[in-house]
Amino acid sequence: MLRQIQAILLFICFGLLSMGSVYAAGAEQLFKFYCAQCHGLEGKGNGPNVTESFATDPRDFTDRAEMEKLSDADIKNVILDGGPSASKSELMPPWSKTLTEEEVDTLVSYIRKLCKCQAKQ
Ligand code: HEC
Repeated sequence: MLRQIQAILLFICFGLLSMGSVYAAGAEQLFKFYCAQCHGLEGKGNGPNVTESFATDPRDFTDRAEMEKLSDADIKNVILDGGPSASKSELMPPWSKTLTEEEVDTLVSYIRKLCKCQAKQ
């Protein structure tokens, strides 16, 4: 009996662990699907959509100094409501109709990983 309970508990633990990694892959997939065409696969702002007709380059998320000027709320709001909501370029689209708030939170954490930087408090 005890053995069985142990086995079940182990099973649940592994289940939770693997769910955790699926969640992390989720962030990367979201980014690749919705953001990388402009911001680049590594977040450097050089995605394949960016041509000379782009009046403003997409933000380079690996630019630590610039990214540390933004709080997580700043990043979240600009993703939800688009560039103009933060007096930025309209080339940055609003995503609130496409992504859930949870997905946007995931993307904010992912962007912090790309910049390897701290949020402005
Ligand atoms: C069509 C191209 C395009 C796509 C797609 C795009 N962006 Fe942007 N993004 C831009 C541009 C251009 C800027 C720069 C705006 C500026 O500096 O005026 C920008 C800026 C940003 C900023 C920085 C704002 C700031 O305050 O400096 C964040 C954060 C951001 N984008 C997140 C995302 C995320 C997350 C996605 C995917 C869900 C995404 N973007 C998809 C073009 C795009």
